Amino acid sequence: MLFREAPVDRPEELFDREAEFGELRGALGAGRLVLLLGMRRVGKTSLARAATHDMPRAYVDLREFEWRQYLTWDDFYAALRSALPRSRRAAEFLSRISGVSVAGVEVEFARGSRRPPPPEVLKALDEWAGSESRRLVVVLDEAQELYKLKGGSLAPVLAWAYDNLRNLAFLLTGSKAGLMHRLLKLEDPESPLYGRRVQVVRLGPLPREKALEFLSRGLSEAGVEHSPALLERAVDSLGGVIGWLSYLGLEAVRAGRLTEGLIEEAADKAARLAWGEFCRFVRLRGSMRYLHIVAAAAEGATWSEIKRYLEIREGPVNDAEVGRLIKSLVDEGWLEKGEAYRVADPLVRRAARSGWGC
Ligand SMILES: Nc1ncnc2c1ncn2[C@@H]1O[C@H](COP(=O)(O)OP(=O)(O)OP(=O)(O)O)[C@@H](O)[C@H]1O
Ligand SMILES: [Mg+2]
Repeated sequence: MLFREAPVDRPEELFDREAEFGELRGALGAGRLVLLLGMRRVGKTSLARAATHDMPRAYVDLREFEWRQYLTWDDFYAALRSALPRSRRAAEFLSRISGVSVAGVEVEFARGSRRPPPPEVLKALDEWAGSESRRLVVVLDEAQELYKLKGGSLAPVLAWAYDNLRNLAFLLTGSKAGLMHRLLKLEDPESPLYGRRVQVVRLGPLPREKALEFLSRGLSEAGVEHSPALLERAVDSLGGVIGWLSYLGLEAVRAGRLTEGLIEEAADKAARLAWGEFCRFVRLRGSMRYLHIVAAAAEGATWSEIKRYLEIREGPVNDAEVGRLIKSLVDEGWLEKGEAYRVADPLVRRAARSGWGC
């Protein structure tokens, strides 16, 4: 079935995405550090898995740490351990480091002060990959969670690996705000990664026509009747985020039909998640003014309408500041500019219209 609950794992299971797939493969072939950026549920994990499907890889899923206040290097090593390629020779290379024990293909890292330093572990993996004349792709899915790492940050380790290890490539997925601004701080001259060449692949929502085709094809395949009007309605509410379209598709297949009620329910659930992401951005930037601007633009607003709305909430704000705030909302993809400014994502728009706070 076209709709599925879990991420896609194989290239032939991907709907659309030929261009992004090609771009990601190219980036992984050429670069050492690749970022796959996209909003929640847009299909990052699926694309990352499908594009590395036939490569030696260590796929580390960091989403499980989303709800944690912080994580330790021991937590990270536990996630890495279960992600390592199940290879006797890889285990053998790792077993030469103190703090690593190996039984067959199972690798165990000592904890606490006996834990091997990250560069040594990566160096052993690099030597193993080199000995196989392959490149090992270390996938850090939702790498932004690593900004919560206690006891030393990941960025210097990545910078060191970038400079020294030829047989490793790193693929980090996450949101632009979380990865580029929070974890790697790429534009900050003080960042250890400053000046390294980073390949960026962006994954966006499906264009309207493709979103309609995805729903229609999946429903037809499952023998579920659907009217074109309801499909239009679904895409109006959900936008082109493939994860939400799949979610709705699965619900419709379960119910045996597509209904307005199912669309509303899916849109509500999706809006909560999308709004949570927006609020994270607001907190990261530390200014509630972003929230007010998005509220002002929920139904579309001109520059001066936004300014007026902001001043009602916050008192006088100068033009330069209003311009700067609006520009960063546009740059980050929350707002788009046409005749007026409007909220780009229909789900965030839905939440903003309902007057949700952060
Ligand atoms: N190209 C695709 N073709 C078909 N289904 C897809 C595709 N991409 C994603 N999906 C489906 O959409 C849902 C979300 O995908 P995925 O988990 O890859 O997104 P994500 O961006 O990693 O989400 P999250 O933000 O929750 O980590 C899954 O059910 C997956 O099966
Ligand atoms: Mg994911």
